[in-house]
Amino acid sequence: MNKETLLKKLEEDMRGDKSLSLQESNLVFGEGDADSPVLFIGEAPGLTENTQKRPFVGRGGQLLNSMVQSISWKREDVYITNIVKRRPPDNRDPLPEEIAVYRPYLKKQIEIINPKVIVTLGRFSMNYFLPNAKISKDQSKVFRIGNRLIVPIYHPAAALRSTQVMNEFKASFQKLPKIVEKADEMLAKSKSKLKTS
Ligand code: URA
Repeated sequence: MNKETLLKKLEEDMRGDKSLSLQESNLVFGEGDADSPVLFIGEAPGLTENTQKRPFVGRGGQLLNSMVQSISWKREDVYITNIVKRRPPDNRDPLPEEIAVYRPYLKKQIEIINPKVIVTLGRFSMNYFLPNAKISKDQSKVFRIGNRLIVPIYHPAAALRSTQVMNEFKASFQKLPKIVEKADEMLAKSKSKLKTS
């Protein structure tokens, strides 16, 4: 089976899994090129995402799109999803138990897409992979987990709230093409944490 078919099947399995929390919201599975070497992972859908059943289509999504374009990539050429795939009420933070119940599905989704580089958007997604990391200290660094690089960056919504965060968010994005280009080389190195300039 190809990746698209496997992802469709996973999405249907998720839709049928009534034990998943936040059933009152729509399933926002994720979208993009399943063959992309880059996977962006956010936190959870917001109001606009819940309505359109697509990830990052609100204000934060518009910023994400413009950043993707700023490095001459196209949104449809990367894959975008969230750790929690239904909207928490009132846009509250996802609860640890919600992150936990959605975890097996995200794990499978990552295995199917098999990206070289995972860009985490915000601290919840970062802490999913790097439980002890701190966003202000560790954003824009390159970590290695198994055969993938993890690059934590700020959440677009945080960038929209602060000029300083916006500047750091933009700077992180500018590093992404080189990280993707050098991913194989970086993954061949044995250190668990790799720093970029
Ligand atoms: N914030 C997220 O973390 N994900 C979305 O899809 C939209 C907003």
